[in-house]
Amino acid sequence: MDREKMGQQSLFGNETILAANGKRQLKEPFGRLDVEPELRKHLLPYCRLSFGEIWEDPVRGHRVGVLDAIKSDHVERILNGLKASLIVNDPPYNVVVGNANTQTLSKEALSDYMIFSRRWVMNCVRSAAANSHLYVWIGADVRDNFQPLPDFMVMMREFSEFKPRNFITLRNQRGYGTQKNWMWVRQELLHYIQGDPKFTVVYTDIPKILRGYYKDVNGTRTENLERSKSSNIRPGNVWVDLQQVFYRLEENVPGCYAQKPLKAIERILLSSSSEDDIVLDCFAHSGTTLLAGERLGRTVITFDIDPIFAELTIRRLENYRSKGKTGWQCQNPFPEMEKAYDTAATTRVS
Ligand SMILES: C[S@@+](CC[C@H](N)C(=O)[O-])C[C@H]1O[C@@H](n2cnc3c(N)ncnc32)[C@H](O)[C@@H]1O
Repeated sequence: MDREKMGQQSLFGNETILAANGKRQLKEPFGRLDVEPELRKHLLPYCRLSFGEIWEDPVRGHRVGVLDAIKSDHVERILNGLKASLIVNDPPYNVVVGNANTQTLSKEALSDYMIFSRRWVMNCVRSAAANSHLYVWIGADVRDNFQPLPDFMVMMREFSEFKPRNFITLRNQRGYGTQKNWMWVRQELLHYIQGDPKFTVVYTDIPKILRGYYKDVNGTRTENLERSKSSNIRPGNVWVDLQQVFYRLEENVPGCYAQKPLKAIERILLSSSSEDDIVLDCFAHSGTTLLAGERLGRTVITFDIDPIFAELTIRRLENYRSKGKTGWQCQNPFPEMEKAYDTAATTRVS
């Protein structure tokens, strides 16, 4: 989960606000869905799924549900006999961000969080193909003994089916912290495998610039750039080339406080799945995994416990298919509600 998307602002309204310098500037049509109970109440009637329901995509067979990752019957029902070659999970982190102590971001006792984690991992073990990848985004609370990252890593030893494969760090551009500390810009991504799944090296857009590793090949001295398969560098397990999602990017989904960059999820899908594979994501939120699967020809089975996030996930796919856009930037994904709130927005802006 991203700590907080940059630039999140007030409840709902038009696409621009009047800044202090008198110029109009972009703003999101509404604030974070986790901290706005009023907003949630207004959006729920526009959601097509209720708790326990599943939507099946008539075009590619993706599935989106409003389900609970810790309920084995829910996970079994949405998979309906299918096995996932790749699971990409981004659960809540059990880390309080700023003053946001809400239903979705709230912190529970570590022991409860570990019961939650054990239960969803168990459901993933049952859902994974014999040769499969499992990726888990997880955080560490420096103000609370770095929980839950180390606890999660140790817990994973109980699941002998999944072996650790890597420990990736994504570097955010913006972070949090104080003037007296290293700025916290990291997001951790654990990589496990079961069996012997295929892995494809995916290169970044970053050109190779360092020279100097010479080697004699068939009597000729060659330099590393001449020998390499690509003129770009391949990502190691520290990813520094991915733009954190914020409200000015096309891929931004207003209201989503924990959206992952599409490019990060696409990198995972490209490296650890093949076309037509089944990809499972038990914590859909803004639907990044679904969109990545759509763009890369994978079938995605995903769900969220919250009907608003499931609705946003489906709308993001539909919006991409109809407009070719990866998100809404500062446009409202629920245009139906705009009319009703025009008056409220005008009052706030003026
Ligand atoms: C960190 S966000 C996932 C972000 C996602 N990767 C993206 O790019 O948009 C976690 C999501 O998990 C959902 N969630 C929390 N508990 C859940 C549960 N028991 N089952 C399913 N989803 C849950 C929350 O509603 C939230 O939308």
